[in-house]
Amino acid sequence: MAGTFPKGFIWGTATAAHQVEGGNTASDLWLMEMAKDSIFAEPSGDACDHYHRCEQDIALLKGLGFDCYRFSIEWARVEPEEGFFSKAALDHYRRMIAACHAMRVIPMVTFHHFTAPLWFTRDGGWENPKSVDRFARYCEVAGRALGDLITFACTINEANIPIMVTMMRRAVGIGGGSKRERALAEAARLSGGEPGKFSPYLSGNGIVAAPNLIAAHRKGYETLKPLIDGKVGITLALNNFQAEAGGEELFKTSDHAVNGQFLESVKGDDYVGVQTYTRVRFGKDGVLPPPEGCERTQMGYEFYPEALEATIRQAAKVSGCPVMVTENGIGTEDDTRRIAYTQRALEGVLRCIADGIDVRGYIHWSMMDNFEWLEGYRPKFGLVEVDRTTQSRKPKPSAYWLGDVAKRNALG
Ligand code: BGC
Repeated sequence: MAGTFPKGFIWGTATAAHQVEGGNTASDLWLMEMAKDSIFAEPSGDACDHYHRCEQDIALLKGLGFDCYRFSIEWARVEPEEGFFSKAALDHYRRMIAACHAMRVIPMVTFHHFTAPLWFTRDGGWENPKSVDRFARYCEVAGRALGDLITFACTINEANIPIMVTMMRRAVGIGGGSKRERALAEAARLSGGEPGKFSPYLSGNGIVAAPNLIAAHRKGYETLKPLIDGKVGITLALNNFQAEAGGEELFKTSDHAVNGQFLESVKGDDYVGVQTYTRVRFGKDGVLPPPEGCERTQMGYEFYPEALEATIRQAAKVSGCPVMVTENGIGTEDDTRRIAYTQRALEGVLRCIADGIDVRGYIHWSMMDNFEWLEGYRPKFGLVEVDRTTQSRKPKPSAYWLGDVAKRNALG
C-alpha cells in the first residue's frame, strides 16, 4: 500500500539514556547489573558511549533523513543525590538539545525512561507516595534549565508498564520469580536500604506504583507546562489487547487496568505517545502464548505489525489527544524483517490518518542497537548497527529505507 503522510508529519528515531549513554553509575540499575547473580544478562557498561558521541549520532540521523530525535535525560545524572542537582549534567543536556536545533532536528525529551537515581529506588521508588513530589521537583529544576529549548517534553516513558509487567508476571510467570526477589533483597542490602523497599521501575510492584505514576505525570505536566516552549505529554506502552473466546472478561479488566485508566487520565494533554510492539491475546485461563507456528521476534513476541493501527485508534478514541507514535520497532537480526514490519505498521498509520485520526508523527525504536534491559545487548532493535569495541556506527538497509520514507513523507 502506498500513500502520502500529512504535511508537517514528524519522522524520528528514539533512544533512552541508560540504554545508550554508558556509565550511568548513580542509577538503580547500575547496582543491580553489577551485582553477583545479577538478573541482567550483562551490565550496560559503556553502552554506545552516546554521552560523548551524541552530536555525531544526531548528525547521523539527520543525514539519513529524519527530522526528530527522541531521547531521555537521565534523572540519576541530574540529581545523583536527593536535593543535589548537577549543573554539569544539565549543561551537557543543554548542549545536546542545542545541537539538535543547530542541525534542524526537533528534540523530544523524556524526563524519566525506566531508570531512576539509586536514592529514589532505595526508598521505595514509585511505590512510595513521596515519588510524586520528588519527580515534580526534578521536573521543575530540569524544566527551568532546559525548557526554553524543548519542542516536545515527555514526562514518563510508559507509565503503565510497571502495572503491565506485574500483571503479566502473575499471569504467565515471567520476570524471574524468586531470583528477582533475591536480587531485590541484595540490592536493598548493597545500597544500605531497608529490606523490602528497593523498588525499580520494572521489577517492583506496579499495582501499587500505578496511582503514584498517574499523579506524578499530572504534577509533572503542570510543572513543565509553563517552562516548556513546546508540547508536553506522556508515552504509554500500548500493546494491542485482544479477547479470544472465553477471555472477554479478563480482556476487559486487564485492558482497563493497563491501558484504559492511563489513557483516561491524560485527557486534555498536548499529545499522547503510543508505543507498540505486538498484540497480547486473552483466553479464558489467562494470557495466551503467540499462535503456534507464527513468526516470532528476538523478544519472543509475535511478529504482528498491525498492532500499531489498533493502538493508535484506541489511544485517540479514549484520550481524545493528538497521537504521536513515539516507539515502534522490532528486535531482529534479520534487517529485511525490520523493513517488512515497519512497512506494514506504517500502512496502518496511513489507514488511521485516512479515517481522520490526528496522528502527528512516527518515531522508530531504535536509532541504534543498544542495551535491551534484562536481555542485555542481544536483541537488535537498531536502524544503525554499533560495534561496541570500536563504537563505530553503521546504518543498516532499514535506516536508509526508513530515512527515504521520511524524506519523501510517503510510503511506496
Ligand atoms: C521501551 C524501550 C525498550 C523497547 C524494546 C519499550 O518498552 O521504552 O526502552 O528498549 O520497548 O523492548
